[in-house]
Amino acid sequence: MTEKTASAPTIGVFDSGFGGLTVLRALVARLPRARFAFLGDTARLPYGSKSRRTIARYAAESAQFLVREQGAEFLVIACNTASALALDAIQDAVPVPVLGVIEPGAEAARVASRTGDVLVIATDATVQSHAYASACRARGLHGIEKACPLLVPLVEEGWTSHPVTAEVIRIYLDELNAEAAGKGLNPDALVLGCTHYPLLRPLIEKAVPAGMRVIDSAEAAAEAAVRLFNGHVSLPAGAATKQTELRCFATDSVDKFERLGSSFLGRPTGKVELVDLGG
Ligand code: DGL
Repeated sequence: MTEKTASAPTIGVFDSGFGGLTVLRALVARLPRARFAFLGDTARLPYGSKSRRTIARYAAESAQFLVREQGAEFLVIACNTASALALDAIQDAVPVPVLGVIEPGAEAARVASRTGDVLVIATDATVQSHAYASACRARGLHGIEKACPLLVPLVEEGWTSHPVTAEVIRIYLDELNAEAAGKGLNPDALVLGCTHYPLLRPLIEKAVPAGMRVIDSAEAAAEAAVRLFNGHVSLPAGAATKQTELRCFATDSVDKFERLGSSFLGRPTGKVELVDLGG
């Protein structure tokens, strides 16, 4: 068990890969005096093409590592797929508050949309769960979901501004807009329902119709996490005087994580530690 001081509570942040570093970046900006432990389950990525049962097992094991081994007192599930399919399993697996990204993303869409018609792009598993459609419906919105399975591998490859990625995004969004138009809908917001997608935001912004708002579920989740976190743990008073303490763990590909992760995080990841969570 890692030593932790009473004055610096640890927030565990988990993703299947390193796309969740977009959530971590937003959290560090808002809670610079907290300590963070980030786990990317890179050995078992992608989650987005797997079954609910497998995703739940992987996510619960990852959450237990952060709580039991790293002393996390609060968990942010920086993965839409795990949030959509395994939030209950994670909550059952650990005795700390757990926040997923679906509800904050849908809430941000509610605030942004005037027409009430909202596009959602996500992994296959997230779309099949219809977690966003349900969260939108609960807020009086009509969510139109589309799986974009090619985008996560392109991000993990570091092709975040590559012309091939731009073309793939254009095709997906054209299909989604055509589907919405065919149903007589008038969407004015697009939810990035995968924590890898904010890394593609510049390309996505270029591909959406004029006036469409692009919602980053990472930013929305960080806002919600700060509210929830402040209700559970108190941080020491005073301004942050040193760089936020952060440890990154991955279940595979630590070199790649260090190489690409720093630009996603906006600061060096530091030495990424390899952990083995089993198969
Ligand atoms: N980051 C995950 C999400 O937000 C997608 C990556 C994966 O398929 O594992 O859904």
